[in-house]
Amino acid sequence: MGAEESSKILQLGSVEPVRKVATSRYIDPEFLELEKERIFRRAWLVACRSSDLERSGAYRCLSYFDESVVIIRDQNGELRAFHNTCRHRGSKLLEGCGRVKEITCPYHGWRYDLDGSLNAVPKAEGFERLATSRMKLLPVRCESWGGFIWLNLDPKAPPLEQSLGAIKDELAPYRLDEMEAIERKTFRLSVNWKTMLENVTDYYHVPVVHGRSVGVHVDSGPDLTGFGDHTRQRLDIAAYEFRRWLDARCSRGGPYSDKQLRALHKYLIFPNLLMNALPYHLTVMQVFPVSTQQCDLHYGFYKRRGARGLERLRAYGTWVASRYILREDFQIIHRFQQGISTGRLKNQQLHAEEAATSHFHGAIDRWLRD
Ligand code: FES
Ligand SMILES: [Fe+2]
Repeated sequence: MGAEESSKILQLGSVEPVRKVATSRYIDPEFLELEKERIFRRAWLVACRSSDLERSGAYRCLSYFDESVVIIRDQNGELRAFHNTCRHRGSKLLEGCGRVKEITCPYHGWRYDLDGSLNAVPKAEGFERLATSRMKLLPVRCESWGGFIWLNLDPKAPPLEQSLGAIKDELAPYRLDEMEAIERKTFRLSVNWKTMLENVTDYYHVPVVHGRSVGVHVDSGPDLTGFGDHTRQRLDIAAYEFRRWLDARCSRGGPYSDKQLRALHKYLIFPNLLMNALPYHLTVMQVFPVSTQQCDLHYGFYKRRGARGLERLRAYGTWVASRYILREDFQIIHRFQQGISTGRLKNQQLHAEEAATSHFHGAIDRWLRD
């Protein structure tokens, strides 16, 4: 797609016109390298939940392709993120997750405070002119929102708030910071990272793949809205009597609009985060490429903290159903990837109910070009 065509869609509320997508995008290693470089190294990405790092000194290491980043809660309770690299000769500092009083390099023993300042160098007199006060660990952009910690590897990236735009206000009533996980699990899938994301926003397959599961609970086709690079999809949930009865007993009194109470809202926060939001539970899926035909899906199903009785039961019941639906999706996306990987088909033809996929590729185009 040309620059002119993709620049049409940046206004709030507009979505990308339905179009063709080249199948090489799912199998070409050069295209994947571009996606890593131009998208994943420049975009805001969820790293973990804020509750994962509650106490001072709690840390978590994350890998972004060949880079390692450590997020740590410092002695004043502030979150910090650093490249996981010693300022002496570059050794990796920490592994996995845990809790430390200070960061000690395993190679020659340089020690850093939790805010990243260098506080001790063994045999310091052996260095000529070592400006220890300036040798802090190299910072990585880090912000918190919605109970999530977000990282950005690009020092010049706009603030997270700007990147989320209007979607931030949309999601505010869901009080995401109050959600706590029923399950968090990582799946290694043999599909391109886009395959997984697109499938979750593709409504066209729902009656075929999920005809006997989720399909029967949805009243109408999706109502899609673009928020810059992000999208929101509304699926009205069948208003059968039992559901109304359940809603009346589970309402947590949040400032939800009627639509938020009666519909599932799917948000694709570009580039790789999906949220299925309802007032009572939340599904979060984040996808990272591993190779052209492999990705890691970080799946999380959340209920509201303190949920009791029916609301709690409903959250657990939906979680079990969600895992069943996920299995249906895993089967079909693996078949999709096998078919597309032959390279026989050059272009995909997208249906109106796959418009979120069109919009997503428009955003990819812009990020690769800009
Ligand atoms: S590489 Fe870290 S102290 Fe030498
Ligand atoms: Fe599906």
